[in-house]
Amino acid sequence: MVLLEAIERRLLEELNPKVKLVLETGRYLIDGGGKRLRPLITMLSCGMCGGEPEDALPLGVGLEYIHAASLLHDDVVDGAKKRRGRESANLIFGNEVAVLTGDYMYAKALHLFATHGTIDMIRIVSRAVMDMAEAQVLELSRVGELITEEEYFQIIDGKTAVLFGACVSVGGLAGGCDEEGRLYEVGLRMGRAFQLIDDLLDYAGNSEKTGKPVGNDLREGKTTYPLLSVLDSLDRVRVESLLKEINPSAEEIESLRREVLSLGGDVKTKERAVEELSRAKELLSVFPENQYKEEILKLMDFVAFREL
Ligand code: IPE
Ligand code: IPE
Ligand code: MG
Ligand code: MG
Ligand code: MG
Repeated sequence: MVLLEAIERRLLEELNPKVKLVLETGRYLIDGGGKRLRPLITMLSCGMCGGEPEDALPLGVGLEYIHAASLLHDDVVDGAKKRRGRESANLIFGNEVAVLTGDYMYAKALHLFATHGTIDMIRIVSRAVMDMAEAQVLELSRVGELITEEEYFQIIDGKTAVLFGACVSVGGLAGGCDEEGRLYEVGLRMGRAFQLIDDLLDYAGNSEKTGKPVGNDLREGKTTYPLLSVLDSLDRVRVESLLKEINPSAEEIESLRREVLSLGGDVKTKERAVEELSRAKELLSVFPENQYKEEILKLMDFVAFREL
């Protein structure tokens, strides 16, 4: 796809720190691959709203740097060892360098927005980054506990969905649309579906494809939708005590993971994601049909049915 090539090129071009280790760490994560969904939807939203997708390229790249920074920090916070199919940056370069390179990338994104964006866009994007940080602290504060569905959605909206909201609205603004609220909700719903499927893949994914191991969330003591969706059929006391364990055995994790799947936690999670996407599609119906809108609709199906 032409857009994807432009994104890859610009992602490498814009990353030009003076200190070699920052470049190496940033490149390590960028070169590791990734789906580049955030810059893609930013550019497609711009095209859907009547602009040239290329006009939103530096903004999409800024949003991908924000995502990359959040991954560098997330892997430190989650103590993750794998990302994008290889050793995570924290494992290779250490927590300190990973965190500081993440800081560099956040600020680089802001710099791109100050250069190529508008004050309204900076308002949207800075709000998203604040929400992401807050939601991840909320998530951490509930580790080891069985959370409610309401808390679950509060966490995933903040840590993931708001950034998708920012992508669709920033892209739309760059394309000349003034329906910021509607565009934001399209992205938010898409992001919610995206995180639901990420949480499903943590239970049922193929780690060769996702580049991340299965069972991580349970091991970390995190309640996610697949578990919540079948909780009524499980022994709550057993689940709570497993979530609380600091070092749960691989067998215990594996047995609960399989039980959640056998009770249909994967199907229910996918259904919930599809519901969110249907609402997002409805919201898009007021926009005129064009090839970019078509691409966004295709990306929504990819989000729901992806294996990576
Ligand atoms: C991973 O995001 C982090 C979440 C918000 C679930 P992606 O699955 O978009 O990561 P890459 O960029 O494709 O590696
Ligand atoms: C992703 O949450 C949230 C952000 C990176 C902001 P996860 O912790 O579930 O992401 P993965 O599964 O490690 O990619
Ligand atoms: Mg993580
Ligand atoms: Mg995390
Ligand atoms: Mg995950």
